[in-house]
Amino acid sequence: MTDQSRAGSSGSLGSIGVEIAGTAMHLPSTKLTNHDLEQMMDTSDEWIIKRTGIHTRRRADIAGGETTSVLASEAMRKALENAKIDPKDLDLLLVATMTCDSPTPSIGCIVAREIGCRDIGAMDINAACSGFLYTICMADAMIRSGQYKTVGVIGADTVTRHIDYSNFGRGAAILFGDGAGAMVLRATDDPSIGMISHEMHADGHGAKHLFIPSCEIDFPEEAEFDERKLDKVQMNGQAVFKFAVTKFQEVIQETLTDSGLTADDIDHFVCHQANSRILDSARERFGIPEEKLLVNIQKYGNTVGASIPIVFDELMSEGKLKKGQKVMFLAFGAGLTWGSSLWQL
Ligand code: UT7
Repeated sequence: MTDQSRAGSSGSLGSIGVEIAGTAMHLPSTKLTNHDLEQMMDTSDEWIIKRTGIHTRRRADIAGGETTSVLASEAMRKALENAKIDPKDLDLLLVATMTCDSPTPSIGCIVAREIGCRDIGAMDINAACSGFLYTICMADAMIRSGQYKTVGVIGADTVTRHIDYSNFGRGAAILFGDGAGAMVLRATDDPSIGMISHEMHADGHGAKHLFIPSCEIDFPEEAEFDERKLDKVQMNGQAVFKFAVTKFQEVIQETLTDSGLTADDIDHFVCHQANSRILDSARERFGIPEEKLLVNIQKYGNTVGASIPIVFDELMSEGKLKKGQKVMFLAFGAGLTWGSSLWQL
């Protein structure tokens, strides 16, 4: 690909930078452990831990009011508090989600109302597990354009409502959990702070490997229509696993090459949590020490768009993030989508 046709890479930074002023997460209160799943389907704690690294995950009680918009609003409210920024000072809200409460209004509009914003831009972005990564790339560009100063970005999903907790759906049932994570991004006058390089990719030919059908026409050619699958996550685990291992490594290399850095120059790899074996393969390939790649999948499972801001918030709360450090965000997911976003704090 020529430089002009690339779907990412580093560009000129101008005079505005982007700082991460505050972060937070919000999780549903109900835990769903591997032992709980053993009661619901033919699986075992040992199998799940060995194949995925997951011990427990959270499950939103939608009927009890734990909707995506509620989790997202709580995460954003706490992130603003941590940033000491008044909700009225936000001028844009972007929400990465593939599990909107209903087709319309967007989660962005509901969050804006719930946290007390007035007359701001608000919308949702759907790139499945890559959604939050796409969202921070866009937010950085919008702030650097000079048109927005303070942007709230959220990753929030309640995908467990699309899970079949029977033997029939056990492949996906063990993986997913619900949650929300948020960041407040703010303009600074130091252009070296913020995103320094990025890659955004999508290949719809792989859509058939991970999808949620609403009706018969949503089934790909090679899949037979089955009413039990409607509204439930359909995943070819092995195909997604191979795609993830390959693209994860490719996109790390692509980002390092674009930015002229080596893996040793990166202080933290903040990765989408889908399977600990996928993360291990990237660590081994690039010689990344454990302390530079936080794995928290054991506690939350795969929380789709929420996983990256949840990892980042844990690093922030543990005091592991310092000004001047370089952080590479990495994600892959349904679509198929994948990408990276390299930041200087
Ligand atoms: O955000 C992106 C979302 N998705 C992913 O990243 C998913 C990527 N894929 C994966 O993580 C893995 O493919 C899974 C964890 C989903 C499955 O692990 P696997 O090692 O690929 O297992 P498999 O599908 O090859 O199945 C191996 C065996 C089979 O039994 P046989 O044929 O060897 O007797 C399955 O029937 O394990 C069986 N199996 C299970 N056993 C207990 C499949 N699911 C389960 C289960 N519990 N839940």
